[in-house]
Amino acid sequence: MDQKGYKVAIVGASGEVGRSLIQTLERYPIPVASLRLLASKRSAGKTLMFKGQSLVIEELNKDSFEGIDLAFFSAGGDVSLEYAPIAVNSGAVVIDNTSAFRMDPNIPLVVPEVNAHVLSKDTRLIANPNCSTIQLVVALKPLVEVYGIESVNVSTYQAISGAGAKALYEYDQELIDPSYEPQILPARSDQRYYQMAHNVIPQIDVFMPNGYTKEELKMINETHKILDDDTIKVNATCVRVPVRYGHSVATTVKLKKAVENKDQVIQLFKESEGVIVRDDIHHQEYPMPAYIAHCDEVFVGRIRKDLDEENVIHFWVVADNILKGAALNSVQIAYYMHRQGLLGD
Ligand SMILES: NC(=O)c1ccc[n+]([C@@H]2O[C@H](COP(=O)([O-])OP(=O)(O)OC[C@H]3O[C@@H](n4cnc5c(N)ncnc54)[C@H](OP(=O)(O)O)[C@@H]3O)[C@@H](O)[C@H]2O)c1
Repeated sequence: MDQKGYKVAIVGASGEVGRSLIQTLERYPIPVASLRLLASKRSAGKTLMFKGQSLVIEELNKDSFEGIDLAFFSAGGDVSLEYAPIAVNSGAVVIDNTSAFRMDPNIPLVVPEVNAHVLSKDTRLIANPNCSTIQLVVALKPLVEVYGIESVNVSTYQAISGAGAKALYEYDQELIDPSYEPQILPARSDQRYYQMAHNVIPQIDVFMPNGYTKEELKMINETHKILDDDTIKVNATCVRVPVRYGHSVATTVKLKKAVENKDQVIQLFKESEGVIVRDDIHHQEYPMPAYIAHCDEVFVGRIRKDLDEENVIHFWVVADNILKGAALNSVQIAYYMHRQGLLGD
């Protein structure tokens, strides 16, 4: 960092997450001396605004990281696998939004409210978790601390923006033109595509040999890594729903101790960093994607005790998948490192 701040690069700047990274950096108190926008040949030459300045997107290449202090990656796993090590070798700290390094035992997987303590001065590459996992672990954190957790069972209701800018475009086309041929969801590498409009797809990403989707296994494995506890039994069913922004997660948690009344749990969530409680059934208040999209926090509602089991609770967690689920969480990691003096030489 020079006197004016960090020299920052964003790889995948033209994408859903990349554009949100630019906007989040504009409003976060991280000193940015310069910003380099990188994407593929397709977007090179296009411009995007940052703090009132028009910046030209450059095509990513091996020299893109010369002089860069901090690089955010959100251009898919293959790009990260190839270029993140180059960025690190050039002296940058890399925060990666893809799944490329998340389960690497040597690379921290971080949600600042939950496990920022794993970051150190030696950390050069940090993985940003899967979007649904981030909002889930923010909600689980206070429960782990006060009650301990035996098991977590979730069903997700994930927005289309989670599949990127092209999926959102395709969804809009489907709404306008019912004869539009889908080409992206449920997984770009599959042979069969389904319409998103007026539909609910119980598949996100490809199927694995055990019958779970890759997205479901990400939620399970990443939750274990972030909470640093493989003994918690986690199960997930991940579903794509026709919502533009905002993932919702219906969550059932079996605690290690009984809950006397749900007000204790509500109070616990209220006191938790990054959580906002919207829970008033008398006024039909609960979090919904249409009302919390573009907000920074993780919203929790529909908090209730199980009808049969003393140590089981149910609740509903909603967050903006592009913000807390990706761009914001990355910038919060950078901001934490900046404040702790962990960025730079
Ligand atoms: N959307 C979410 O909710 C979310 C949440 C967490 C993590 N992520 C992860 O973040 C990454 C980006 O997601 P997204 O939703 O922003 O996708 P997106 O809207 O499809 O954007 C992809 C970006 O990557 C760039 N790109 C693609 N191939 C490239 C290449 N070979 N070289 C350089 N740049 C290339 C694209 O540039 P062009 O414009 O030139 O094509 C674009 O800027 C993915 O790995 C995704 O899994 C997404």
